[in-house]
Amino acid sequence: FKNDVRVGRSGRESPSFAFAFDIDGVLLHVAKPIPGATKVLKFLNDDNIPFILLTNGGGKHETERVKDLEARLGVQLSTDNFVQSHTPFQELLEGPNSLRDKTVLVTGSDYEKCRTIFKEYGFQNVITPADIYAADPTIFPFQAPSSYTTPSQPLPKPLYSHPGPITNPATLPSHLKIDAIFVLNDPRDWALDLQIITDLLLSHAGYLGTYSPLNHPTPTTRDHPNGGWQNDSQPPLYFSNADLLWSAGYHLPRLGQGAFQAAVAGLWRRITGGAELRRVSIGKPYRETYRWAERVLTSMGDGGGRIGGVGGLRRVYMVGDNPESDIAGANGYCSEEGTEWVSVLVRTGVWSAERGGKLEGVFEPKVVVDDVMGAVKWALKKEG
Ligand code: G3P
Ligand code: MG
Repeated sequence: FKNDVRVGRSGRESPSFAFAFDIDGVLLHVAKPIPGATKVLKFLNDDNIPFILLTNGGGKHETERVKDLEARLGVQLSTDNFVQSHTPFQELLEGPNSLRDKTVLVTGSDYEKCRTIFKEYGFQNVITPADIYAADPTIFPFQAPSSYTTPSQPLPKPLYSHPGPITNPATLPSHLKIDAIFVLNDPRDWALDLQIITDLLLSHAGYLGTYSPLNHPTPTTRDHPNGGWQNDSQPPLYFSNADLLWSAGYHLPRLGQGAFQAAVAGLWRRITGGAELRRVSIGKPYRETYRWAERVLTSMGDGGGRIGGVGGLRRVYMVGDNPESDIAGANGYCSEEGTEWVSVLVRTGVWSAERGGKLEGVFEPKVVVDDVMGAVKWALKKEG
């Protein structure tokens, strides 16, 4: 492989191009390295060719995930060139609407892991659905969720309960108010998560246990001045990725966080008689994630210099397996730095010719290759 790809490259200077590798379906099938992945990453490390890992995965803090990846791939990696789905949420700690000291609900895979991620990011008050269930099991009239463990931060009991609209908000302050809701990875306990998220979307300003008719439109409230469908005091709902499908160990793609998002949106439409769920989704293909990734790349370089010296980063090869996230995102991203993002689709993941999946418009990659090794060979040949 080294001889094939070291076309005219001395392997010394840092080139003016870089790679962005998707993980699931390109480098790994869950825990199992995809053939060629380790060899490619070792070659790029040895030859000082910059790359980042850019995944819609998540559920562990970056430091823990990178250690996992190093062990699975047998390659030295760093959090300095690792971006996962919820990494950019750290931006919400700063600025005039900072959520740093607000109370946020997080869910995703393991509830305590989700709390740890956000605490390590710097969010000060992080609640999980398990905390709420522990404080009042009647909120969920079925058995405890499978990933339930006794919360590390028990909530004050009892939780607030008020059956009707709030006429005097002054009576509320001592009760649990969720200021924002985050989905950080692929939820395991959809039933509990859907119940708690719905309770909060129907609540008065995120006060759990309350109910606001403004959020539950009927023919009369629909004409309410603020639209009736969803009043402005509703806690914002953030999803870290919109992947309907992803490539795991099974031979067919699996449902991802985008499927959970569709379940929340479908449930909200049914409860409200047709309202569209207001939400923010990041991750690939969205601009925020590619902008974050590009800033990580442009901050890399020999000893903190810029990749490619004065000319900077000219081109990023985005190697992915999902046309809806990796390919569409790279094709649609307008770089702040004038960098060209080149989309390269591999056949080892979500997309396969046999299952169809038209590659047209924004989903059309620059090239389709068999696997990550083919992607790097193609790119390095192009770079000459
Ligand atoms: O949860 C993981 C899935 O959404 C896909 O991750 O690495 O293919 O972007 P990735
Ligand atoms: Mg993938």
